[in-house]
Amino acid sequence: MEREKISLTGAPATMLATLYARALDNRLPVPVLGDTEADRTVRRIDYDFGAMGIKDTSSVVGVALRAKYFDDWTTEFLAAHPDATVLHLACGLDTRVHRIAPPASVRWIDVDYPDVIRLRERLLPDPGGDYRMVASSVTDDAWLDEIPADRPTVAVFEGLSMYLTKDDGKRLIQRITGRLPSGQLLFDCYGTVGVRMQKLVPAVRNTGAILHWGVGDPHEIEGWHEGLVLLDTLRSVELPGNAQMTASARAGMWVMARIPGLRDIGRLLRFSYT
Ligand SMILES: C[S@@+](CC[C@H](N)C(=O)[O-])C[C@H]1O[C@@H](n2cnc3c(N)ncnc32)[C@H](O)[C@@H]1O
Repeated sequence: MEREKISLTGAPATMLATLYARALDNRLPVPVLGDTEADRTVRRIDYDFGAMGIKDTSSVVGVALRAKYFDDWTTEFLAAHPDATVLHLACGLDTRVHRIAPPASVRWIDVDYPDVIRLRERLLPDPGGDYRMVASSVTDDAWLDEIPADRPTVAVFEGLSMYLTKDDGKRLIQRITGRLPSGQLLFDCYGTVGVRMQKLVPAVRNTGAILHWGVGDPHEIEGWHEGLVLLDTLRSVELPGNAQMTASARAGMWVMARIPGLRDIGRLLRFSYT
């Protein structure tokens, strides 16, 4: 079979780094995620994945762990709300819907830029059920108005917030929480120091992507909608699963966890809203 050539640049191209990491995780003796579909997809793409800087087990495990937390939080929400809407924003080529395999009662919507959605259509199998893709920037107004506001909603956006300006991130959060009845927001963020050090991230440097929004105090976000409550903040450098990383990576994280600014370089956030 002819492999798919990819010529994306900027933020859309960064999804190839996370996809590649999940594929490499699947090739570990004991994978964190075991994402066979990601592995199959990478084998169908003609791209210089080496330029993404995903070179060692620790970066593979780091990406896979982040995805695992968001999978687990989403699954938890769906167990309590089997009729929910899932808004999976900036989905890239993430096979979250395949990994979670939600029941048919769940409405699942994957959103990303049109170029990315076209690739998804070509490369990933239809997961079945009440599933659809929306080809749009998340900052455009129209797409969200089309989502029926009739169910509890979990909005998952992994690897997105840092590519938005703070104003666009705030507006997105306010539009979701203002329109869709109640639910949760699950997303990761860079800290302000992380955004200043962005050129050190190979996937950012080599794609020409630009990071804008670094979150200082996540509690500030609670003020953006009445009824928005921060449930969990997990620092990437302190995730229990980091135990699967190499000793040198764990030592590096141990040091970072003790340095103000660096300890908040990446965080996973879970909010509930009414
Ligand atoms: C680091 S990748 C993460 C992709 C996926 N969530 C994952 O974990 O593999 C960043 C993604 O954000 C998407 N993105 C960035 N800004 C966006 C916007 N304004 N609207 C829609 N998608 C956006 C990119 O197209 C890309 O798919």
